[in-house]
Amino acid sequence: MANFPIINMEKLNGDGRAATMEVIKDACENWGFFEVLNHGISPELMDTVEKLTKEHYKKSMEQKFREMVESKGLEAVQSEIKDLDWESTFFLRHLPVSNISEVPDLDDQYRKVMKEFALKLEKLAELLLDLLCENLGLEKGYLKKAFYGSKGPTFGTKVANYPPCPRPEQIKGLREHTDAGGIILLFQDDKVSGLQLLKADGQWVDVPPMRHSIVVNIGDQLEVITNGKYKSVVHRVIAQTDGNRMSIASFYNPGSDAVIYPAPELVEKEAKENEIYPKFVFEDYMKLYAALKFQAKEPRFEAMKAVESTVNLGPIATV
Ligand SMILES: [Fe+2]
Repeated sequence: MANFPIINMEKLNGDGRAATMEVIKDACENWGFFEVLNHGISPELMDTVEKLTKEHYKKSMEQKFREMVESKGLEAVQSEIKDLDWESTFFLRHLPVSNISEVPDLDDQYRKVMKEFALKLEKLAELLLDLLCENLGLEKGYLKKAFYGSKGPTFGTKVANYPPCPRPEQIKGLREHTDAGGIILLFQDDKVSGLQLLKADGQWVDVPPMRHSIVVNIGDQLEVITNGKYKSVVHRVIAQTDGNRMSIASFYNPGSDAVIYPAPELVEKEAKENEIYPKFVFEDYMKLYAALKFQAKEPRFEAMKAVESTVNLGPIATV
């Protein structure tokens, strides 16, 4: 099997550009995931984010996680637990409007650093979307526009810790799923692994921890817009017996009222009649996803398709 795709983004600026774009294309078509290095976010900023996130976990999250585990009585359960994940999380929203000042238990420095980090990630997500446009033969800015809706994209961060787990065979860190949104940028622990993706041949493959890298993956919306040329890929987190895994995943998603549908350039003319991907308003998809996250994506696409045939979406909101 080919190795997990790793992209040195510095190479996009010189002679290596064509070869690097080709690796990105292959990653999007065959992995749904890749890892970027030299992405322009400084190692110093990443180190600070990591340090403050780990301190915050110790100070404000660890005790709550212990109590949650204790209150569920997981120690006594013998069979595999399928309705819970071995993770401790909180969420930050950046766009369309930041909620960082309202999230409890964050100190001022952590708020400030996470705001700065989010701004860099937003720019990186938009740069990556344009690289995807280039590979897809779409005009520059197409994907950003497709996500825009009336208020711009939705952008948020899930800060997670996966504490050491005494019985990883009985509970997942995070059960398998595909991501609902657009493009996802993950700053993951550089020592404690656990994230795995499911290849088309049915093999689970580790997403390798790498210092100062950002893991990129494709969500359901990009699968729809690319008409399946790129696929959102199933992934999960295996809890580890040793070490605490940090995972800071930022979701660059369409605006809630953005209308999502396959890019006409990517739909074969004769195939239009049998188009398998639906056209829908992003927030309607998210309502469905909230209930069906840990199920296969295909029924979600089908459900949206059924809605599409009964509702007139009206003029397409393009900005
Ligand atoms: Fe995910």
